[in-house]
Amino acid sequence: MQKDVKELTQKLQKNKKDLSIKKLFKTDPDRFSRFSKQAEELHLLYDYSRNLIDKEIFDGLMDIAEAARINDYAQRMFAGEKINWTEDRAVLHTALRDFSGGKIEVDGQDVMPEIVKAREKMKVFSEKVRSGEFKGSTGKKISTVVNIGIGGSDLGPRMAALALRAFSDGPRPVFVSNVDAADIIESLKGLDPETTLFLVASKTFTTQETITNALSARSWLTSALGEDAVEKHFVALSTNREEVERFGIDPENMFGFWDFVGGRYSLWSSIGLSLAISIGYENFESMLRGAEALDKHFLETEYSENIPVIMALIGFLYNNVYGFDTTAILPYSQYLERFPAYLQQGDMESNGKSVNRSGGPVDYHTGQIIWGEPGTNSQHSFFQLLHQGSRIIPADFIGYINPPERKGDHHDKLMANMFAQGEALAFGCTKEEAKKEMQDAGLSKEDIDMLLPHKVFRGNRPSSTLLFEELTPYTLGVLIALYEQKIFVQGILWDINSFDQWGVELGKKLASRILKKIGDAEVEGLDSSTSGLLAAYIKGKEI
Ligand code: F6P
Repeated sequence: MQKDVKELTQKLQKNKKDLSIKKLFKTDPDRFSRFSKQAEELHLLYDYSRNLIDKEIFDGLMDIAEAARINDYAQRMFAGEKINWTEDRAVLHTALRDFSGGKIEVDGQDVMPEIVKAREKMKVFSEKVRSGEFKGSTGKKISTVVNIGIGGSDLGPRMAALALRAFSDGPRPVFVSNVDAADIIESLKGLDPETTLFLVASKTFTTQETITNALSARSWLTSALGEDAVEKHFVALSTNREEVERFGIDPENMFGFWDFVGGRYSLWSSIGLSLAISIGYENFESMLRGAEALDKHFLETEYSENIPVIMALIGFLYNNVYGFDTTAILPYSQYLERFPAYLQQGDMESNGKSVNRSGGPVDYHTGQIIWGEPGTNSQHSFFQLLHQGSRIIPADFIGYINPPERKGDHHDKLMANMFAQGEALAFGCTKEEAKKEMQDAGLSKEDIDMLLPHKVFRGNRPSSTLLFEELTPYTLGVLIALYEQKIFVQGILWDINSFDQWGVELGKKLASRILKKIGDAEVEGLDSSTSGLLAAYIKGKEI
């Protein structure tokens, strides 16, 4: 951490108090309005009143925000400065959702004209596929679009396509990511090569999983329709023209983006093509505009009212002052079923670092550990531990006042559960309350004595709630950008580079060495565990 941020954090650690959320609410009838924020332009109500903060802690967090000069760093990112210093790159996924008409320069070049051109190309192509003007090699309309990618080239479009299913009126999107053949085998079952379009999504176009799957898809297609069909059934979403050509995809069918767009931030680029084809370009653009609105809020709102800044600081407080290990992301929307998985890459690949800006080791925890599942299913799975486990796990609830479609009282029930869970986590259930409940139910004294300790909920478990007016492409854009900027702010607080990912390289390198060995090559220097496992695999392999 920068020196002054560290000192202010130590001050918070030193003055750490045993706050009771219940007492905080009792002593301050205005707590909800004090610690919540309605942002009309984002269609969002953010409630952070059920957190372990009081005015003094909140002010302490604001001092940290000031000391960290968050807005200066944000201005530098938005202006195209090369803030990803280990890769010597600008970080401009924000430019992809910029409709202001202004200039953004990297190395003295305005990048906006190229971005506008790329958006137009996506628009034209997605409309052609949707209308049937673009046809497969045998003249049939495309009915299924298979996105082959992994990591940021899969999680974003997959999550968003699921989230916006209710808006889909185009070809069906299918996603293949795992190098496990099961993924492509099962995904292609029942598909018709004549009406299937493959989007090979890979920023580098060298990723083992994606190229392996793309080659299998290619042979599935050519064995049915012949080599010439590739041109009409394969499109590349990439920054690497050379590799795209080498694969055999016509560069005309390549949708480019740039090295200033990180993989996990690439949904806003041509990597979102499967989504644009599924929901239509207008809806896709609306998602970009929601993200743009969040960016504006982030840049222009003072810290004490700034939602991503507050979210980042609360996460920081739990990580670095209270020492809570993990954070649960709990969308009360089936549409957001892949949101926690998407966020795992966004957050943990960005901030899972232990080297600071000066190249030295950090001596504090970085990176929030994110996990979660949609409610109400998660209530019947891990909520026991959230309510009564020995660890405190702060949670983010995400819900919508209006779902895309109402059916009976489903949504009221869903939301009642969401509100109730936050309430139960915060306020728990005392011994007296639990006892009275059992007495009212007519339980014997012996049963009450035996059950009582198990029926008590200590409460005081913090959570925040993001309550959107409705689930639309626009509010999905807001939600994603909100977490992106939260991650960015935390990277500044922890003084790390949130935009590289060297930590994924070693495993890739070792896997290719081991693959050579499976292919009978002589490989030196394997440890006895790896070579023992490998020997068992090679011996037992059925060919
Ligand atoms: O997992 C590492 C990573 O580099 C991610 O950052 C990226 O999203 C993913 O691999 C896929 O990379 P590509 O789009 O180049 O295939």
